[in-house]
Amino acid sequence: MTQVLCVAGARPNFMKIAPVMAALAETGIAAQLLHTGQHYDTAMSDSFFADLGIPRPDHHLEVGSGSHAVQTAEVMRRFEPVLGSVQPQAVLVVGDVNSTLACALVAAKRGVRVIHVEAGLRSYDRSMPEEINRVLTDQISDLLFTTEKSALANLQREGIDPARVEFVGNVMIDTLHRNLERAVPASRTLGTPLPQYAVLTLHRPSNVDDPATLAALLDVVGEINRRLPVVVPLHPRTRSNIEKFGLATRLDGLHVLPPVGYLEMLGLMRDARLVLTDSGGIQEETTALGVPCLTLRENTERPITIAEGTNTLVGPDPAAIRAAFGEVMADGGKSGRIPEYWDGRAAMRIAHTLKGWLPMQKGIRAA
Ligand code: UD1
Repeated sequence: MTQVLCVAGARPNFMKIAPVMAALAETGIAAQLLHTGQHYDTAMSDSFFADLGIPRPDHHLEVGSGSHAVQTAEVMRRFEPVLGSVQPQAVLVVGDVNSTLACALVAAKRGVRVIHVEAGLRSYDRSMPEEINRVLTDQISDLLFTTEKSALANLQREGIDPARVEFVGNVMIDTLHRNLERAVPASRTLGTPLPQYAVLTLHRPSNVDDPATLAALLDVVGEINRRLPVVVPLHPRTRSNIEKFGLATRLDGLHVLPPVGYLEMLGLMRDARLVLTDSGGIQEETTALGVPCLTLRENTERPITIAEGTNTLVGPDPAAIRAAFGEVMADGGKSGRIPEYWDGRAAMRIAHTLKGWLPMQKGIRAA
């Protein structure tokens, strides 16, 4: 009997589900893996399964891209019959993408327990699609695993019983620990040695969907590139908007790469002088690596990376980015320490808890 049906759908899910699947196997919990197909390109999906040794999914929904409504609805529609035939004791979802919420919602409506890994993070910015996914997923989850202690206060504010919440640390950092030695050196990914460089990733709708915002960001990145070469693994959404808005010449001189695999990205970050990003995961990975990170957003749902880590919240304003970059060049950037339980053992903590928790979940959850 399958006890736990694990769900992954988009790139940032894969490095979280990998250690969870491994820990469940190690503790003898019967699990299956379902891929929704939200991300489907080799570079956005298959390469992560290969690099991280994630088992081949038992189920693949092949939903692909679409508006948020279409994508979420399509995952729900295709997930329901699979859930009906597998009949797991619980569905485990990770992170905050559309697939996370869609599968959690189907499970909750069918009375199947929902486990959320990376619960309780809040940007308090409801214009961010992921924030909606976080709030709603947490509301319908039965067991919530958190990566940092601030998450518990966020959940309690929303009326969630603390007895359902457990602080276990960061499964994504488990993956980082496990793979750091295998990271591909930056010189190999770049095809040329660069003694010093910055890495930029940009894909948030708030940064890349408006032509003026995107143009201003690319301009200031162009300025930075004249002092420190900037390497840009380009997300498909960003690439297509740059083309659509006629901004392709703004990329001239930058070291633009297609989306890179996990081991390449790890090497690029590890060897970088600094990282500029609007990603959530990269704020955490740079803190774990001790590399200065400038976050090009107005807020973060991962405040521990600022309080304890190497992250600085800069926002999308070019003057602020210029100033923050100048500081890193002058003093080497922020140093930090490793947050509690970001120690490579978060997934094992989850598996041990589930070992005790699953047998106590009998039948359909009370309404
Ligand atoms: C999604 C997540 C976001 C995460 C990001 C990482 C949501 C709401 N957003 O955003 O939290 O940080 O993944 O990448 O779930 N595309 C491809 N190939 C693919 C996948 C997408 O070309 O394999 C293109 C398509 O044009 C698509 C666009 O990228 O329309 C956006 O993909 P989508 O999954 O809708 O959202 P992301 O921006 O990737």
